[in-house]
Amino acid sequence: MLAHQDVVLSSDHAATKLRRLIYDHIAAQGWRAVDMGPASEERCDYPEQGAAAARLVAANQFRFGIVLCGTGQGIMMAANKITGIRCGVCSDPYSARLIRQHNDANMLALGARVIGEGLALEIVDAFLSATFEGGRHEPRVRMLDALDLSRQ
Ligand code: RB5
Repeated sequence: MLAHQDVVLSSDHAATKLRRLIYDHIAAQGWRAVDMGPASEERCDYPEQGAAAARLVAANQFRFGIVLCGTGQGIMMAANKITGIRCGVCSDPYSARLIRQHNDANMLALGARVIGEGLALEIVDAFLSATFEGGRHEPRVRMLDALDLSRQ
């Protein structure tokens, strides 16, 4: 069993390079991160890669997950199928900050074919540095969690 870590990263083949860049970026900041691959750009499936990372976040093995595919959309959909996951695709730092502050997102999805490297790192920084505000947002997040339960 993994010890409690901070961030798990996962992607499909479309985002191997950007995922590695993000790993190096956050590791340099002191985040404890684990990279679930893939190691190469050989084809793999975003549903499996997204769900694998999401299961670890849902099991509290990691505080946050960052997942990537070509658009970010497919791997976000996979992550959100796992109970307890709140994952948003972001192409701007404002949204990345707000999905933490208002939605208590525990995963961030990025599209490696949509955004450039510099912007991706800004988005990651915005996501990881923001804090859930609670208050009026708390019952809404609980309502999201209740939707998880209603589909079981
Ligand atoms: C792979 O070609 C591509 O479909 C995938 O990376 C992603 O964009 C799907 O949502």
